[in-house]
Parts: sequence; structure tokens; C-alpha cells
Amino acid sequence: MEHRFPEGFLWGAATASHQVEGNTHNNWSEWEKKNAERLAGEAKTKFAGWQQEKFPEMFNPQNYISGRACDHYNLYEKDFDLAKSGGHNAHRFSIEWSRIEPEEGRFDQKEIEHYRKVILALRERGIEPFVTLWHWTEPIWFQELGGWDSARSINCFLRFVEKITIELKDEVKFWIVINEPNVGLGFGYLKGSQPPAKKGLFKFLPAYFNMLKAYKMAYRLIHQIDSQAKVGFAHSFSPCESDIMWPFGRIAASIAEFFENFFLSSSKKQLDFIGCNYYSRFMISLKGNNFQKGEISDLGWEIYPQGMYIAMLRLKKYDLPIYITENGLADADDSRRPEFIREHLKWLRKSINEGVDVKGYFHWSLLDNYEFPDVRGFWPRFGLIEIDYKTLERKPRESFYAYKKIIENNGLE
Ligand code: FCB
Repeated sequence: MEHRFPEGFLWGAATASHQVEGNTHNNWSEWEKKNAERLAGEAKTKFAGWQQEKFPEMFNPQNYISGRACDHYNLYEKDFDLAKSGGHNAHRFSIEWSRIEPEEGRFDQKEIEHYRKVILALRERGIEPFVTLWHWTEPIWFQELGGWDSARSINCFLRFVEKITIELKDEVKFWIVINEPNVGLGFGYLKGSQPPAKKGLFKFLPAYFNMLKAYKMAYRLIHQIDSQAKVGFAHSFSPCESDIMWPFGRIAASIAEFFENFFLSSSKKQLDFIGCNYYSRFMISLKGNNFQKGEISDLGWEIYPQGMYIAMLRLKKYDLPIYITENGLADADDSRRPEFIREHLKWLRKSINEGVDVKGYFHWSLLDNYEFPDVRGFWPRFGLIEIDYKTLERKPRESFYAYKKIIENNGLE
């Protein structure tokens, strides 16, 4: 087989607490209630005609309220049975900080036990857990104390990290301390379009540098508690390209990529692996968003499988193991997802042939869910498994089986 992956390669899918669990009480759930009407109204100007026609849910305020989501909090065993039946041997999920520490300094042991059960349910099925500790949502008290732009955020976050690591170190080997600092803080603090919606560079910069410091300290803290732990973060990486005349385009792309990778390069001594979330490339073009695109997803994101390879080659210089911690597309009728997976994996395989140490791949997502970036809500469908939000029925899509076949062969034809 031409595209066989290395022995022991990890195959799985990813989720995040707020997006799938249901009934969370955190800074997002509060913000959603206040902003759902507005978001539904803005859909008219935010999305193209074909998107509005195909997904009229975007005009319904309920689309923007996470509510009971997939009820994964209660149905996780069922979901892990499905993951196992799809051949998955790894799974990425996040622990909801607001459940663990509902009031400042008060930990809820019952919720810690819940996540212990979740992890054991994975282990019983032969699935390696990858645990994310901050996937964009926070306890309300943390926000009231000032959030990430306040210097107090660092110690608050470390207290949570310490507690969880002490409690779960025997069950967990891989920790993803933070998910996509650039995107989470970019939308939350620069654009101000998602919680905490504090718009402006002078809010963004302290938040960014506090988070960077918190990450580095969390890395050391986790290692003090468990010297065997593998610690990193999930970096959203869209390789920057440009169709502007050489060398101007190349220079612009390199500058953009420098800023994009700043968190990564600043924490390279505190990384046991790189988690890479790859969705598409970032194109710098004088035509704005109207440059010559290939196929696009339901969200209008360009489908660019070769970018996976470009991303890997650019990350090679860090000389660290890489896990693809997210990769996927919004595709409600699943007409593009099977091919999407195959093509991205072919390019990923090519990077391995050329010496990049890729050790695992997590598809985003196991389930349809409440989609985060810029608060899209439920209408974009990223799941290998379809969710009927009325009945909570789970239905594996064709892509689920296409992925299963790849996993069974540990590669592609
Ligand atoms: C990423 C988020 C993830 C998901 C995908 C589509 O930016 O990390 O939670 O919503 O986008």
C-alpha cells in the first residue's frame, strides 16, 4: 500500500465540552442568551444567498443557544461505543472548567469523578485520551474577575490545572493545555465577536501575553506533578500564501506567518509535541476574499488538502512530534467529507515520507455540534456522526465508514 501510516499511529476524532455536552453554565452560555436574537438577525448580511437558502436555521435565535447540545455529558458511553466501532484508538475532548470550579477556589469532586469516568470509558475501549484544559469557555467568576486580560487570570488558571493534573494524572498521558490561543483570543478580544467580546488591541495584548505565560507555567506544573506527561497546546495553523507579485506577496505571507506562529515559537521550550489544527490556508490577496478558490465547505472555507502538507513542512523546523488535533469541514450532506479526509491524509502521508514526525490525526468532529469560531451555532455540520437535535439520535455518516476503512488499513490505497 502506497500510503500506509507508521506503526502505532493514533486515529481519532475531537470534541470540546461546551460544543457537545449540553447544560453548561459558563461565560458562553450567558453570552449566548443575550446575543442570540442579534446573531439571528445578522445572518442576513453575514452569509451568502446559497448558505441562507440551504440553512434557514441560521435565522432562528435557538441556533445560537448551546442548550442541551448533543447531551454528550450523559450519552458519552454511547458516543465512545460508536468511536470504537469506527476503529478509533484515540479521542480528544475537553474538561469544562466551569463544572470543576463553579465558584472561585471551590472544586466540585462529583464533576471530577464524572471526567474520571469519561476517561476510563475511553480506556476500557482501548482509546487513548487527549485532554484539553481550556477550549474557549470559562467559569463566570473568572470572567467577573477580569478574564485573561487581567493578570490574576494566570494563577486562577494554574490552580485549576494543578487540581486536575493531581486528580487525573494516573489516567491521562496527553494534555492539551490550551486550544487555539490565536483564534479564541482573536475573536474574543480583537474582533470582539464572541465571549468575552472585549474589542481592541489593548485588551487583546495583555490577554495574549497572560495566556502565553500561563501556558508555560502550566507546562512546568504538569511536569512537576507527572514527569511522564506529554504536554502541548493546539495551534491553529493556516499556512500563509499570497497571489501578489513576488517578492511582495512572499514577504507579506512570511510576516503574517511570523505573527501566526508567535505563541508557538515563544513556547517551543515548553512543548513535548505540537498539536496542529489545520482547516485551510490563509491567502493574502488584493482581491480580498475573492481570490481563485478551489471547492468550498458549507461555511465557505476553501478546501485545500495540499495545505496540510505545506503546514507540516513549515512546522518541521521545530523538530517535535506533531499530532493533527483538528481537521474537518462543514458538510451537511456529507458529499465532500469522505474525499476531504482521503485527500488530506494523502498529503499528510507525503509529509511523513519527507521526514515530518506526525504521530496522530483527530478529525473535527466526532459529532455534529455547536460550532464555535465566530459563534456559528448548530447549522454547520462537522460530524462524522450526524445528530438529530430533536431526538438526539446519532447516525454515522458515510464518511464515518470511509474513515473507518482507512483506520483498519492504517492508511489509504
Ligand atoms: C476551531 C475550534 C473548534 C471547532 C472548529 C470548527 O477553531 O477549535 O472548536 O469549532 O474550529
